[in-house]
Amino acid sequence: MNAFSTTPIADRVCLQVNGEPAEIGARLHDTLLTVLRDQLLLTAAKRGCNQGVCGACTVSVDGVPMRACLSLAHNCESSDILTLEGLQEDARMQALQHAFAEAGAFQCGFCTAGMLVSARALLERVPEPVEADVRAALSGNLCRCTGYVKIAAAVQAAGRALAAKGVDA
Ligand code: FES
Ligand code: FES
Repeated sequence: MNAFSTTPIADRVCLQVNGEPAEIGARLHDTLLTVLRDQLLLTAAKRGCNQGVCGACTVSVDGVPMRACLSLAHNCESSDILTLEGLQEDARMQALQHAFAEAGAFQCGFCTAGMLVSARALLERVPEPVEADVRAALSGNLCRCTGYVKIAAAVQAAGRALAAKGVDA
C-alpha cells in the first residue's frame, strides 16, 4: 500500500525496472519519478527541483541518463529503466561508489544517485575520461555541497580502476 493507493488510476503502463517486469497504474500526468518513488518505492532517484534542472532524479532509460521528473510514465511504456538500486552488482557502479567514498565526493548525498547514474553512462562511452569529459557529462547534475572537484576526481579514478581490472567498454 502506498500514499497514492486511493488516487484514480488512468491506465496501465508496462516497464522493465531493474531487470524485472513492472506493471503499474499511472495517471496521464504521472512522471516516471512519481512511479518509481511512490509506487515502486525505489527512492534512490531524488525529487529535487522537480522541473528538470538539478539532475537528482536521473535514471537510465534504455541506456540513456534521463531526468525522471520530466519523463511521463506513459511515454516510458516498454522501456528498460535502471535505477541505482538495480546497479549494485554492476562493475562500473561498484567502482564509482568505491571511488566516491575514497575521494569524499559527497556531503549530504542528495545529488549522489543521479551523479552516479550519469557517471556510469559516461564510463560506458568513455572508459578513461579526462576532467573535461566528466564535467561535461555531469553538467546537468547539480551539487550544492562539494564544488565538483572531488566528484570529477572520483569518476576519473573509477575509470582508471576499471581499466586496470580490464573491464570492457
Ligand atoms: S528533480 Fe528532476 S531535474 Fe531536479
Ligand atoms: S552532496 Fe549535497 S547536493 Fe551534492
